[in-house]
Amino acid sequence: MSATQLVERAESVARRVVETAQTATDLESLREIERTASDELAAVKTGIGSVEGADRSTVGKALAAAQATIAEVVGERRAVISAAASASQLAAERLDLTALGNGSLRGHLHPVTQVWRELEDIFCGLGYQVHEGPEVEDDWHNFEALNFPPGHPARAMQDTLYVNLGEPEQVLLRTHTSPMQIRLMETQEPPIYAIIPGRTFRRDTPDARHSPVFHQIECLVIDRDVTMGDLMGTIEVFFRALFGDVESRFLPSYFPFTEPSAELAVSCPFCEKTGCRTCSHTGWIELGGCGMVDPNVLQACNLDPEEWSGFAFGFGIDRIPLLRNQIDSLQTLLWDNDLRFLRQS
Ligand code: DAH
Repeated sequence: MSATQLVERAESVARRVVETAQTATDLESLREIERTASDELAAVKTGIGSVEGADRSTVGKALAAAQATIAEVVGERRAVISAAASASQLAAERLDLTALGNGSLRGHLHPVTQVWRELEDIFCGLGYQVHEGPEVEDDWHNFEALNFPPGHPARAMQDTLYVNLGEPEQVLLRTHTSPMQIRLMETQEPPIYAIIPGRTFRRDTPDARHSPVFHQIECLVIDRDVTMGDLMGTIEVFFRALFGDVESRFLPSYFPFTEPSAELAVSCPFCEKTGCRTCSHTGWIELGGCGMVDPNVLQACNLDPEEWSGFAFGFGIDRIPLLRNQIDSLQTLLWDNDLRFLRQS
């Protein structure tokens, strides 16, 4: 073949590739076009050996130009085919998750958990630490160190659930959060400013006002020269943060671990003490107990009552969301898991 024919051959191979590459729709057929073109150009290259010296560079340049054109065209087409292939794979594998998300309800915390967290926030704001303690307790922490000696009549009022472990009636489900007073005094140097929210248990048949599992929050302050005034002031501040503009009331009462002791009530936030169904027409809602930590309790924890004094209070959490939602007695509503009720708050 003459030099002119070889140049034309190289150019025509390149032209053909430019046209046919556009029609290739998959990588395999593109590869076939490339392979055929490269065989044909190899023949052109062999032909260089048979032309005159002066024409060799002309044919060589035409060959290089054809190779460059082919590489560019094939490269571009390969990119297009690959992009289309991965787009169609993505489309084929796409999972439609919108059906699940559309219109589904956002959950929210249980009303009791909301109050629990709010209580923690209020006391953290007053500089208290939040603690939690074991739900399975021993007799020492739940009773004895709290000044309930064996056979003490106040023990019988606590309807204890015992755990079948160790000595009979020594391991139990805590009947109140007060045992954490002892655990804190045993392990921490005063001053102590602590609250302990938690689950508590008593042998009760569930009904509108009772549940064998319920929640309490305990507060313990141990410092020098703590007075009943500090206790009352703290409760006042705290009740106002929780219920708004209410009064607190302290009625003399008895708990073995506090002396003096008082029953704790708030003025009814619904009727402003004029009397309504929620407060059983008394104007007051009883929430729990409080008092000055008994010296016997301090001594049981190796604290010197001459040096340290303190106050404590404890009350049920479960009534609070009910009071706030003006539901007077149906505590079971909280635990029935009836979504019509739970979705409201
Ligand atoms: N633990 C008591 C109960 O469950 C409530 C209580 C009363 C806690 C007086 C206190 C307190 O901290 O000082 O009946």
